[in-house]
Amino acid sequence: MKFFVDTADTKEIIELADTGLLDGVTTNPSLIKKSGRKIFEVIEEICGIVDGPVSAETVATDHATMLKEGKKLAKISNNIAVKVPLTVDGLKTCKALTGDGIMVNVTLCFSANQALLAAKAGATFISPFVGRLDDISEDGMGLIEDIRLIYDNYGFKTEILVASIRTPLHVLEAARIGADVATIPASIMRQLFKHPLTDKGLKAFLDDWEKTGESIL
Ligand code: E4P
Repeated sequence: MKFFVDTADTKEIIELADTGLLDGVTTNPSLIKKSGRKIFEVIEEICGIVDGPVSAETVATDHATMLKEGKKLAKISNNIAVKVPLTVDGLKTCKALTGDGIMVNVTLCFSANQALLAAKAGATFISPFVGRLDDISEDGMGLIEDIRLIYDNYGFKTEILVASIRTPLHVLEAARIGADVATIPASIMRQLFKHPLTDKGLKAFLDDWEKTGESIL
């Protein structure tokens, strides 16, 4: 499973890219607002940090304007994945952009039927929002299972990008189900490395090692 980080904060992206475990980045208008920076400036900088797909979201709601926005965003770098919403106009734009060889991430997916439509429109990525479904007492990870089953039934190449991740358990479940990508907030990505028994075990080994008086180097 690929790991994308869900942020427009370049400091966080640099820190995670340094681990060698970062496969891409997703942003959205709210994350751009949070960064306090201009969209074209920050997206260009992110594309220079990460080789993998960097999602940049359109904001128009009609097909013609969305297509223009998507083409402009795609010109920033060849690793841009243009994000479009799961609407009729969004899927028309998805088909047009992927037809031009541009990666498209269809966002705001909340049902398996929507995911089926996105795959038929040629989406590179489908972004089901698991956390926002859990927030309203619906089964976010159940949606990922359904989409996996449907895409495998028909051999769709659209990658399932699990979005709106709130906990490390979401990441674990996504991997169990066989999702292609998880886009993870930086704070949760950092939690994935941690286990109290790792810290405790390492401390005990290092304490004993010090007592040997030896050195490896
Ligand atoms: C990423 O592509 C999505 O926009 C993001 O994961 C949404 O997360 P949120 O529900 O925490 O805002």
